Amino acid sequence: MKTILTGIKPTGDVHLGNYLGAIRPGLKLAHSTKAQSLLFIADYHCLTSMHKASELSQATRHVAASWLACGLNTQKTIIYKQSDVPEIFELSWILSCFTPKGFMNRAHAYKAKQSTNKEDGKADLDSGVNMGLFNYPVLMSADILMFNATDVPVGEDQAQHVEFARDIAQKFNNNYGDTLVLPKPILSGQKLIPGLDGRKMSKSYKNTIPLFCEDKKFRKLIMKIKTDSLPPEAPKDIKNSTIFDLYKEFATDSEVLKLKAHFESGIGWGEAKQVLFEKLQEYFLPHRQKYNELMSHPDELDKILLSGAEKARQLAKPLLKNIKKVIGVG
Ligand code: TRP
Repeated sequence: MKTILTGIKPTGDVHLGNYLGAIRPGLKLAHSTKAQSLLFIADYHCLTSMHKASELSQATRHVAASWLACGLNTQKTIIYKQSDVPEIFELSWILSCFTPKGFMNRAHAYKAKQSTNKEDGKADLDSGVNMGLFNYPVLMSADILMFNATDVPVGEDQAQHVEFARDIAQKFNNNYGDTLVLPKPILSGQKLIPGLDGRKMSKSYKNTIPLFCEDKKFRKLIMKIKTDSLPPEAPKDIKNSTIFDLYKEFATDSEVLKLKAHFESGIGWGEAKQVLFEKLQEYFLPHRQKYNELMSHPDELDKILLSGAEKARQLAKPLLKNIKKVIGVG
């Protein structure tokens, strides 16, 4: 039996790139399968770098509300906060006793931090590395293995971590016999979503278009999308146009053809941006209403997450009990 599981680290505002790269394909997958699906907010992973209480709790609610507002069906998908499921952390310790330290030395987030330290000329390459960051992949393995997840949708940068989970499970099984299910990463295959400056939309490039923001700010951002300086009447190439690339993700086939024709006969960039803005407004209107509703009732939102955690714990408890028996502590 297939179990699909993924985790979202609550960092920053959910943006169009997240929507097209993770939320939309994630919901499509969850809603189109009979398999069990779980989605959680990885707030304890976020604690490795976010040490402001109000920021962490706000970011967690923001991400949960975003997924719910975009249509996550709580009857089909169990949604919970990682920190509400203590079984995961017990398993994390157990798994750390089967994780070669060398695996963690090779983990890319840790290696990236070390190379930044090197570039900055720091003598201590571990400067600014806490044990949470170093052990990040062990906790992520526990997230996955605690639920016998088989399919783990992730961005490319996280595939290495899912491979670690697989290797750690294999080491455990080699010692105790088949106990843990080996997961595999599922890459969405979503092509690159361009941001305001045409590079991949990413928080680190500061070129994102947030899903949930004031209409005025939203329009202002769309108007900032980088274009060339061709005059309005000049024919425009739909290739390499951020405006066109974004528009076609949300418009119907005939709308796309219409805009293509308009590009070819000459369209002013201001007008093209307005067309994109109106399409996005129309598409996201119901999501925004739902989002605002959820964010203005944090108690309700917390209730949804707690009830998800209850369901998740019902799945985790018997599995952890068995694991403890298998290793000789239960
Ligand atoms: N590390 C993932 C990220 O930064 C988030 C995450 C935590 C996750 N635990 C997970 C993803 C388990 C998939 C499965 O995006």
